[in-house]
Amino acid sequence: MLEINNLEVVYHSVVRVLRGVSLRVSDGGVTALLGPNGAGKTTLLRAVTGLLDLHEGSVTRGSVLFDGTELVGMRPDAIVASGVAQVMEGRRVLGELTVEENLLAGAWSVPRSAIRERLDEFYERFPILGERRKQQAGYLSGGEQQMVAIARALMAKPRLLLLDEPSLGLAPKIVADVARLIRSIHAEGVSILLVEQNAALALELAEHGVILETGRVVREGPAEQLRDDEDIREFYLGLGEGGRRGYREIKHYRRRRRWLS
Ligand SMILES: Nc1ncnc2c1ncn2[C@@H]1O[C@H](COP(=O)(O)OP(=O)(O)O)[C@@H](O)[C@H]1O
Ligand SMILES: [Mg+2]
Repeated sequence: MLEINNLEVVYHSVVRVLRGVSLRVSDGGVTALLGPNGAGKTTLLRAVTGLLDLHEGSVTRGSVLFDGTELVGMRPDAIVASGVAQVMEGRRVLGELTVEENLLAGAWSVPRSAIRERLDEFYERFPILGERRKQQAGYLSGGEQQMVAIARALMAKPRLLLLDEPSLGLAPKIVADVARLIRSIHAEGVSILLVEQNAALALELAEHGVILETGRVVREGPAEQLRDDEDIREFYLGLGEGGRRGYREIKHYRRRRRWLS
């Protein structure tokens, strides 16, 4: 469904941030993209949704194929219309607008006659949003704002949903709600590219995982295989002695330790 091949991205014509990244999301599948801050995860999503221009970035090599169609060079609105939606990281809602106005902001590509029905579907699915539909979104809790952001992205009925760190800054109990929501979206057949620093969560939700460091893929494989990998447990799942070292650094450290002993 989504096939990224050998992608290179440069900011301001000089700073190379992605250095030949390949990745895929299968039809109806969930792929987790993991990696530390600054690895290039958000940049990769911008390349898919056509938003690099806004950030003075450009694709210098490689391709982004969505159902075989090249997205590089396509306009962001055309990409959305083709079935790709993104939930951005960080600030999640249009705080001054009501919940309903936020949802409508995600519905510009939806035929007018279908909008009411789509909203009612959502209020049934997210009763809390129904209750709050006339409230200013900026006053909702972090978890509720994340739900609004995800619901807004779903208004256009995407076939591929890109999520950028949906659990960031949320309390554990709320993270579990968001995880349940992601599962239900997956169950409806939407393909998902899930960017997360919370590897335990991401590898639980995904079938396939890709680890990015300084613009390169350093590991990838079936999620369960990555979950059981000692090095990955050590770094990303914070279960071992590795602390916050990078994956490559850990590999190096282990080799050296073996050599010394
Ligand atoms: N608009 C920009 N101009 C220049 N450099 C940028 C820009 N956006 C991001 N970067 C740099 O690109 C690298 C990757 O950033 P990003 O894709 O946000 O990483 P991640 O999402 O994995 O934390 C970082 O070093 C960041 O500073
Ligand atoms: Mg990011």
